[in-house]
Amino acid sequence: MTRTGPQNLLVTGGCGFIGSNFVRYWLEQHPESRVVVYDKLTYAGRKENLHNLWGSSYLSLVVGDIGDMDLVRRTCQENGIDLIVNFAAETHVDQSILGPLVFTDTNVRGTHVLLEVARELGIRLHHISTDEVYGHIRDGHQSVETDELAPRSPYAASKAAADQLVQAYAITYGLPVTITRGANNVGPYQYPEKAVPLFSTNAILGEPLPVYGDGKQMRDYAHVYDHCTGIETVLLRGEIGQVYNVGTGREMTNLEMVDLVLETLGKDHSLVKHVADRPGHDRRYSMNVEKLRALGWEPKYDPRQAVAEAAKWYEGNRWWWEPIRSGEFREYYNRQYAERLAGAAQQ
Ligand code: NAD
Ligand code: DAU
Repeated sequence: MTRTGPQNLLVTGGCGFIGSNFVRYWLEQHPESRVVVYDKLTYAGRKENLHNLWGSSYLSLVVGDIGDMDLVRRTCQENGIDLIVNFAAETHVDQSILGPLVFTDTNVRGTHVLLEVARELGIRLHHISTDEVYGHIRDGHQSVETDELAPRSPYAASKAAADQLVQAYAITYGLPVTITRGANNVGPYQYPEKAVPLFSTNAILGEPLPVYGDGKQMRDYAHVYDHCTGIETVLLRGEIGQVYNVGTGREMTNLEMVDLVLETLGKDHSLVKHVADRPGHDRRYSMNVEKLRALGWEPKYDPRQAVAEAAKWYEGNRWWWEPIRSGEFREYYNRQYAERLAGAAQQ
């Protein structure tokens, strides 16, 4: 059954990769809605991700931390918010290995604060979770929403804790919540610490592509557009209290993804360097997405199209990523890769 859509959305993390794609998509599809983006503007949160939308009377920005209960409450009250969509998070697995505590602060405590405000003000909350909460998946199985959670990295564990807090609030307090668990998203405005934008921009610059371990890990590379339509479907037709997987249901290896990036950009395979693996690297993610399909949703892109489209976007949008790559990103890149790449060169 279709419910009347929400009118006033608080989109936390709306200046990040998926959040900004969602805000753009939502305002195109629902021009009668008002969106308040609530974002701390960490290194991954960039106002330019919504560059041509600022100034519209339908969109505003509050710069703040989701852990700041007073500011979250005031923002919801002043804007008559009837739906919180929670994208805000620390999101990179490698960063969670280098410095895990902020992942607990934002992903666990921050989500908990949003739940408390939602409970106090009687607001529906939709939480963006991830396939990483299921842990790595044995061959032949696809995760379904009722599978036990078995996260293995600090990032995944913090997302699993948040996911379970959201479910606990539905059970204990009857809070109207929904959850989507997304696969690996690719597309415009993804910070270049993540594999597809990192490999695309490195290839364009003629720099090595650092593939962790043997590169045979499997991921479902889904276009961010399909994640946005999946979330919209759940917001409009999902059952309150339910969890929905969002992905294509098809995986490829990282080596296949790398080949596709190189082929799309017309670059040579000699750029690929196998480097020391990520500690605890999950070998395979794979989700069954039939529950979402049953609501009438279909992905528009298969994983190969998604990766190729993403690589082309980085080729055509150097204005977006060149300033990022010349800034604080360099320091992270050296910390994460200098030793690994030196090790690869000696092999
Ligand atoms: P991102 O890192 O690009 O963006 C995160 C956003 O959250 C940024 O705008 C950042 O400034 C903001 N933020 C961080 N800490 C905050 C805080 N304490 N208070 C307010 N804002 C804060 O992330 P993304 O890739 O767009 O991911 C968005 C959500 O989707 C996350 O919850 C992530 O776990 C989930 N997810 C991501 C993927 C993926 O492939 N990228 C897949 C499945 C689920
Ligand atoms: O699956 C959903 C998750 O996808 C989201 O919840 C996370 O927020 C998002 O970051 C992503 O996590 P991954 O760790 O799977 O994505 P990442 O882009 O970091 O890596 C994709 C694959 O590529 C993974 O197997 C690790 C590998 N990789 C990654 C980097 C950055 C490399 O081989 N080399 C690299 O330099």
